[in-house]
Amino acid sequence: MNCEIEALLHKTVSLSESEILALLTEHYPDKVVFSTSFGMEDQVITDFIIKGHFPVKIFTLDTGRLFYETYTTWEQTQEYYHTKITPYYPQAKAIEEYVQENGINAFYQSVPLRHACCHIRKVEPLKRALAGNKVWITGLRAEQSPHREQMPMVEWDESNQIIKVHLLLHWKTDQVMAFLRSRGIPYNPLHDKGYPSIGCAPCTRAIKEGEDFRAGRWWWEHKSNKECGLHIHK
Ligand code: ADX
Ligand code: SF4
Repeated sequence: MNCEIEALLHKTVSLSESEILALLTEHYPDKVVFSTSFGMEDQVITDFIIKGHFPVKIFTLDTGRLFYETYTTWEQTQEYYHTKITPYYPQAKAIEEYVQENGINAFYQSVPLRHACCHIRKVEPLKRALAGNKVWITGLRAEQSPHREQMPMVEWDESNQIIKVHLLLHWKTDQVMAFLRSRGIPYNPLHDKGYPSIGCAPCTRAIKEGEDFRAGRWWWEHKSNKECGLHIHK
């Protein structure tokens, strides 16, 4: 697998985003998927996929706790592209038991309870969405965190047994927003209200001038890695 990743990495260095999508979809027919949270970078990737007619399945993980604005962006995106994004939902029984046992907002109580919520609402549905596929495209960018700054554009995800491709890894925020605005692509209005990074509503707040990109995610936690488990740190 390492050789495969290295070969892909080598090829992608000099290619445009559309050329990378062409390479991946030719090499792994019907096995390339893209996860969107309708964040700014995801909207750019969706545009590349749909306008380029690349056979990539686009899916989203609806945790049941997303912002109203995120649902609106989802609807607007479907209308704009005349397309349907595939939703994945948490297992009802797992949520029922978790809420019965711990309460509806238990993620504020402790890091383990927060991780358990993320596992039920995001990580387990993600595993189902990725099963049987070969390539997972994401919107992770180097600018978002010190860890993401170190990531290669193509990597092997051991826990999901899939090749991950961070298509916009080196794009800057201004570049992403300029792309969306200049083309009139719908985007989450929270981005204009101090939310550079948007997850679940109870776990995301706006950031203040000078704060880190991800400071608004799980802002009450000071000793966790501020990740939900979708993107495991190696
Ligand atoms: S997270 O791990 O902290 O939640 P982040 O919000 O930075 O991730 O988003 C990074 C990438 O993870 C997105 O570009 C997208 O590919 C994927 N992602 C995050 N949340 C979701 C979601 N709810 N549904 C689908 N993909 C998601
Ligand atoms: Fe649960 Fe918050 Fe994780 Fe969403 S971000 S799955 S609400 S703990």
